[in-house]
Amino acid sequence: MSLRVGFLGAGLIATYHSKSLRRSGEDVVWAGVYDPDPARAEAFSAASGAPLYASEDEVLDSSEAVYVCTWTAEHRRLVEAAAQRGLAVFCEKPLSVDLASTRAMADTVRSAGVTNQVGLVLRSSPALLAAKSIIDDPASGRVMSVVFRDDQFIPIQGSYASTWRGDVTKAGAGTLLEHSIHDVDVLSWLVGQPSRVQALSAGFHGIEGIEDSVAALIGFAGGAVGTLTSVWHDVTARPSLRRIEVFCERAWCCVEGDWWGPVCWTRADGSEGRLEGGALAQRAGPIDSGGYAGPGNPDGSFVRAARSGVPAAPDFSTALAAHEVVDAMYRSAGEGGVPVPLGGGDPGPG
Ligand SMILES: NC(=O)c1ccc[n+]([C@@H]2O[C@H](COP(=O)([O-])OP(=O)(O)OC[C@H]3O[C@@H](n4cnc5c(N)ncnc54)[C@H](O)[C@@H]3O)[C@@H](O)[C@H]2O)c1
Repeated sequence: MSLRVGFLGAGLIATYHSKSLRRSGEDVVWAGVYDPDPARAEAFSAASGAPLYASEDEVLDSSEAVYVCTWTAEHRRLVEAAAQRGLAVFCEKPLSVDLASTRAMADTVRSAGVTNQVGLVLRSSPALLAAKSIIDDPASGRVMSVVFRDDQFIPIQGSYASTWRGDVTKAGAGTLLEHSIHDVDVLSWLVGQPSRVQALSAGFHGIEGIEDSVAALIGFAGGAVGTLTSVWHDVTARPSLRRIEVFCERAWCCVEGDWWGPVCWTRADGSEGRLEGGALAQRAGPIDSGGYAGPGNPDGSFVRAARSGVPAAPDFSTALAAHEVVDAMYRSAGEGGVPVPLGGGDPGPG
């Protein structure tokens, strides 16, 4: 039976999800769209066929599942409205502008019992899935160390064309929350739960509350240590780019492109490997140039979960865990880089 899916927000990421949903091949009806920017709403409606509505309520009342794709400060209110109606809800990352709101949102969807999913899309990346299989291979041994660098031009310009990312009341913060919440989630997924962090941050663009350079030191519960560097610069020829190096006891693995690789590795027995592009696509299953066409498509999996009322992944509780780590990093940076323990862990040697 067709699932009626509505969209709140008709910008960059709403358009991505709408296209990805179509590629997923799931049986979906575009139930409606609302965006206070009429040009965006009209363009989205024309491209997707979603009826254009004049309010959030009309979209919510027409939908069985809803995508919350507005700027971050609006997420909480809209998720609460969706959960009150018992709708399945997909909300973009970051879930909210602060940890207290994020906890409240995770509680809201849990007590409402609604299917919920969050846009931590890197968990579906063919490159990162390949890296994870190398890291998780028992022959690789334990993870010892990780070096994670994430840089992009500050997205108040260029293809993002968003002014809200330069407004702390709408974005909540800068590069660490808005962009590197993905990285913090990936680090937990690849390496394990962080138990303590230290961080320093800086703001070169002079935008209040929007930091553009963060360096964090992370101790993981499993014993590994690592660093995360997150930068928003003005090198507009560099869009979002990530490089991740993981050292295990008996393997080294490096991801140089976070979706299509290359992913390289060397093992203690001297064997080496390299995968990119089509070879990664073959491993990951049926994929076209814009995203997954098959079962790995995260939008397709959200719709299937929503239709049957079962949990989706990654869900709000997964996102909350990443928010807890990001919040600890901000608290550390706010006090000049003091060690901050997580989940009752010890603060380490400092
Ligand atoms: N998962 C990812 O990789 C990824 C990528 C980009 C953006 N995002 C996240 O998605 C969200 C949106 O980002 P974007 O790049 O699409 O921004 P965008 O500026 O392209 O679109 C946001 C839209 O939300 C609309 N909006 C604001 N308040 C609204 C409301 N109450 N109801 C309906 N629409 C409303 C705005 O008018 C705007 O058109 C942000 O939280 C961002 O962090 C996630």
